Amino acid sequence: MHSILKGLQKDHINLAKVLDIMQLQLERIAEGDDVALALMFDASTYIQNYPDMIHHPRENKVFEVFKYRSGDEAEVFKTLIQQHEEMPDVTIKFKRLLNEAINGLGFISREELVKKIQEYIDLEREHMNLEEAVVFPLINKTLEDKDWKLLEELIETESDPLFTDKIEESFKVLYQSISGQAA
Ligand SMILES: [Fe+2]
Ligand SMILES: [Fe+2]
Repeated sequence: MHSILKGLQKDHINLAKVLDIMQLQLERIAEGDDVALALMFDASTYIQNYPDMIHHPRENKVFEVFKYRSGDEAEVFKTLIQQHEEMPDVTIKFKRLLNEAINGLGFISREELVKKIQEYIDLEREHMNLEEAVVFPLINKTLEDKDWKLLEELIETESDPLFTDKIEESFKVLYQSISGQAA
């Protein structure tokens, strides 16, 4: 498997860890623990800064080259590309919802808040699972060396701000809770 696809898979493994932490925080929020909202907010900032802004555009480039190579315009790619377009806005709205809840400005019930957070986590997970189960194996089977060479030129290598040796300050608490979870 080419290192670009391996890198995208690694991103998924990392995002899965973040989603697990979000799921755990959601249980606390459902029980009335508002401190958990802050960690939820940090996790959504991570999704905004890396998966939404860097990971998905990178996948779009791989999908484009796949389409060119195979002539395949399968519905699944359209679905994923559409989701890539929508997800940054979905994350912004999600952050706004959390921000309102943190500051006591939200007028929705806790039940409704929990439902909306669950929907966001599910959307992220389902999107990722579809790529892992259907699309990545197809890409791995189809793309040739010359395609990956082209992608090497098209894809820049911005690093992940959370899963790195130099974790950004704003993600330190989130990182600690993820590594605490793994331990
Ligand atoms: Fe994606
Ligand atoms: Fe992805």
